[in-house]
Amino acid sequence: GPAVPAGFDFSSPDLMADRVPLAEFAALRRTGRPWWNPQPRGTTGFADDGFWVISKHAHIKEISRDHELFSANANGSVIRFNERFAPEELDVQREHLLLHMDPPTHAKLRRIVSRGFTPRVINGLHDALRDRAERIVADARRRGGAGDFVTEIAAELPLQAIAELMGVPQEDRGRLFSWSNQMLGYDDPEYDGDPACAAAEIIGYSMELAERRRGCPAHDLVTKLVEADVDGRGLTDDEFGYFMILLAVAGNETTRNAITHGMMAFFDNPDQWELYRAERPETAADEIVRWATPVTAFQRTAVRDTEIGGVEIAAGQRLAMYYSSANFDEDVFDAPGRFDIARSPNPHLGFGGTGAHYCIGASLARLEIGLIFDAIADRMPDIAPAGEPRRLRSAWLNGIKELPVRYS
Ligand code: HEM
Repeated sequence: GPAVPAGFDFSSPDLMADRVPLAEFAALRRTGRPWWNPQPRGTTGFADDGFWVISKHAHIKEISRDHELFSANANGSVIRFNERFAPEELDVQREHLLLHMDPPTHAKLRRIVSRGFTPRVINGLHDALRDRAERIVADARRRGGAGDFVTEIAAELPLQAIAELMGVPQEDRGRLFSWSNQMLGYDDPEYDGDPACAAAEIIGYSMELAERRRGCPAHDLVTKLVEADVDGRGLTDDEFGYFMILLAVAGNETTRNAITHGMMAFFDNPDQWELYRAERPETAADEIVRWATPVTAFQRTAVRDTEIGGVEIAAGQRLAMYYSSANFDEDVFDAPGRFDIARSPNPHLGFGGTGAHYCIGASLARLEIGLIFDAIADRMPDIAPAGEPRRLRSAWLNGIKELPVRYS
């Protein structure tokens, strides 16, 4: 019989609204082949009439490794836009966002940002972020009673970390947070901002920051970007602004959801919480990212006719790499359905495949996840669920908007 029910659309904005479609992914993986997801023309902001669902870990690795054959730029990396995006918006993003670029431009620009993410820079943030994490948890504990884990705990550290790295002053961090929500939550009626307006706000704001740093350099990413040299010239205002957008957006929502799903997994697996409290295994952060898979899928476009898993792929067709399927692939993980914070090795694809676009913030995200659970384990180990989580409506983010908890 068919692997998934007729009419099932993996790019529907309701895909993740109630649950992650783990059973449907498992059915696709059993076929071992890409699956063609038909779509009425134009419904996702792309000109074609469907896309390939890639469910196998090995196939995603194959695709993300080969930038010649599989372009991030042709249709961008995001699998679905909605009616809030003007048709030109995709082109603007393709031109300016690192996430959507191909070599050689990609490598040139990535080199500039990656200077802001060297092990030295990230280690240098350790003590400040540990203090932050402890303060966040202590504040929640002081308020006592019940609260929302997402806004009061999970969202705070990623926001502070990225703001610290970028050099965004404390008083502006709230605005950064709401712009970033508006840019990614466009399918959820609760985030009713216009993504293009939010983008414009971040760019405008970045210009102000840049102006300040031109006069007074500091040890932050904004200063590095202001001083950057690309082929003998500085970054254009657009290049600069879109870097800031990417960092603000990519570093916030993803890490927040990893932390929230991690907490939920610990609630469901008290033995793992015991283990965490006792041993703080370094492997925990990666298992949390595997389990959460905050980014459900990114896509590539085939540049030439080719073949994946015995299926012919035509030039111009899109391939959506479902990390949330790959991370539960039975051919790669023992007992993938078990949350196991000691799992090692753990070759999950939560940070993307091992290609040029591999998440630049992976070490920072791991550090944040470790520090926040350390603070929770130290200061309120008896935290408990106090209601059902509310999920984000999105085709490609595994988001939690609210998680009621009891602080103790
Ligand atoms: C790229 C996930 C945290 C910045 C990516 C990609 C994924 C991802 C899947 C690959 C995109 C592709 O192959 O097309 C995550 C997850 C995170 C996280 C799950 C948290 C648990 C962060 C943080 C930052 C960040 C904290 C920055 C502060 C970026 C950037 C890229 C990227 C700039 C684009 C890299 C490129 O295109 O060359 N991320 N990310 N991410 N991530 Fe992350």
